[in-house]
Amino acid sequence: MILKVMSQVKKAVLPVAGMGTRFYPITKSIPKEMLPIIDRPLIQFAIDEAFNAGIEEIIFVTNHTKDSIKHYVTEQLELNKRLIQSNKENYLKLVNPNNFDSITFSFVEQKEPLGFGHAVLQAKDFIDEPFFAILLADDLVLSEKCCLGEMIAINNSTNDSVLGVFEASDFQIPQFGIIEMDGNDNEIVKQIIEKPDIKDAPSNLAVFGRYILSKEIFELLEETQVGKNGEIQLTDAIQRLLQTRMLRIHQFDGMKFDCGSKKGYVDAIKFYAKNYDF
Ligand code: G1P
Repeated sequence: MILKVMSQVKKAVLPVAGMGTRFYPITKSIPKEMLPIIDRPLIQFAIDEAFNAGIEEIIFVTNHTKDSIKHYVTEQLELNKRLIQSNKENYLKLVNPNNFDSITFSFVEQKEPLGFGHAVLQAKDFIDEPFFAILLADDLVLSEKCCLGEMIAINNSTNDSVLGVFEASDFQIPQFGIIEMDGNDNEIVKQIIEKPDIKDAPSNLAVFGRYILSKEIFELLEETQVGKNGEIQLTDAIQRLLQTRMLRIHQFDGMKFDCGSKKGYVDAIKFYAKNYDF
């Protein structure tokens, strides 16, 4: 008899409350997570990845200026009606992707912009399971195998937290959380430092926007003081989690674009235009 392994990661937190200053002026009225890769907003790629990984609920950590995200994931009955009336039924699937029926979308507000760690903390009351996922929509992953799904598989088989990492260039190192590996095991994390100077970086392995974390992180976040750049940093809470729990890294096979930067965003559009039908 084949026993289906039940994943213990059912929920994903998607922080979308940032101001998107690097993309002003467009982000004055359009959240950066709604920026399109041709015709699909970044948020759709994150939803697809979460769905493919078996996630059942996405908790958006948002703020009052991000109504368009709520609008995007809510079925618009009036729009459905208009499409049907004008014989444009073929668009119904596009505006109501199948996976929207399988995922519950929840929203919680981050009232003050106190940092990434603080944003994640706002989702605390939604998470009952021992582990949960975090996805950053501006880290666009295009790969054959589902990156988040692979991370969940590692969590299922080890019961450890898992961080998505990539090899950063010297220029990128001061912009990311940087990992020091355990000398004896090339999958186990020894230390994580938020945005170090190149001279202090223990490696070039940088964390990008894919995390599977133990829910103990919430208690640690509650105690986390303001850190780098005057913000409550998730990285500082992860560093404390490391004192009692094992963390592993996952390097996926595929393309990743930092769509929080203009260059990464343009590269993503160029790559998508060349390699995908749309
Ligand atoms: C955040 C984290 C950083 C991580 C990065 C991934 O930084 O603080 O450790 O490497 O996300 O995208 P931010 O992008 O909010 O500056």
